[in-house]
Amino acid sequence: MSSNLPIGIIDSGLGGLSVLRELLKIMPNENYIFFGDSANNPYGTKSVEKVVELTVSNANKLYDMGVKAMVIACNTATAVGAPVLRATYPDRIIVGIEPALKPAVLSKSNPTVLVMATPLTLQQDKFLSLMKRYTEDANIIPLPCPGLPELIEAGNFCGREIESYLERLFAPFDKSKIDSIVLGCTHYPLIKEQIAKSWGQAVDIFDGSEGTARHTRNLLKEADLLNEDNQAGKVTLLNSLDSDKIKELEQKILFG
Ligand code: DGL
Repeated sequence: MSSNLPIGIIDSGLGGLSVLRELLKIMPNENYIFFGDSANNPYGTKSVEKVVELTVSNANKLYDMGVKAMVIACNTATAVGAPVLRATYPDRIIVGIEPALKPAVLSKSNPTVLVMATPLTLQQDKFLSLMKRYTEDANIIPLPCPGLPELIEAGNFCGREIESYLERLFAPFDKSKIDSIVLGCTHYPLIKEQIAKSWGQAVDIFDGSEGTARHTRNLLKEADLLNEDNQAGKVTLLNSLDSDKIKELEQKILFG
């Protein structure tokens, strides 16, 4: 396998671009093909079977184009689709993402941590066993956020709609008792500033995108597949929804 082949990245829509941003920061010379499945968004309220089917089909599209590694830049698709993909392609580099619970728990002694994620992610054994690992060290509160990816896909990174969604979501909590918020869905880092603003009090916010980018680099290095070219790599953005609005949002998220 050639080291200058692109890295494939898949997500249920635009959220995975938050992972691509981190990959570009630490490996700007790699080539990337990103596939966002905005036409089928959201995944987080679909059935396990449907998300597995979509994840495998999206990955196959990129395998057919020739990628040296696959990053599943979606917590939901990782939780349900990664085991199937790994069983189908046991010799390939496949990187998943999970809610960044570990750094949030380790950042303080006995913190109270709110984990925002999709309903499907929070129902899976993968998340339940992650949570179990840390229950002695932290008070962990899972917070499903149905409807949030749809608002983000529509380009609501700030503004009244997202503000009132977050206001309703956060209303039941005594904010002075929460130490950290984990963004357990790759769409949420796209509205990190709005989340901090709506929370309105000091809180540490964690997400898994940086760790996922570092893990990808480590696996490529181990496999001797890091691109040695010195110039900036090529970024190809594909989406199942052929719309100007999506193209505009992709550029805004990646390049500001
Ligand atoms: N971006 C996906 C994740 O990280 C979820 C969005 C969706 O529900 O499609 O879980």
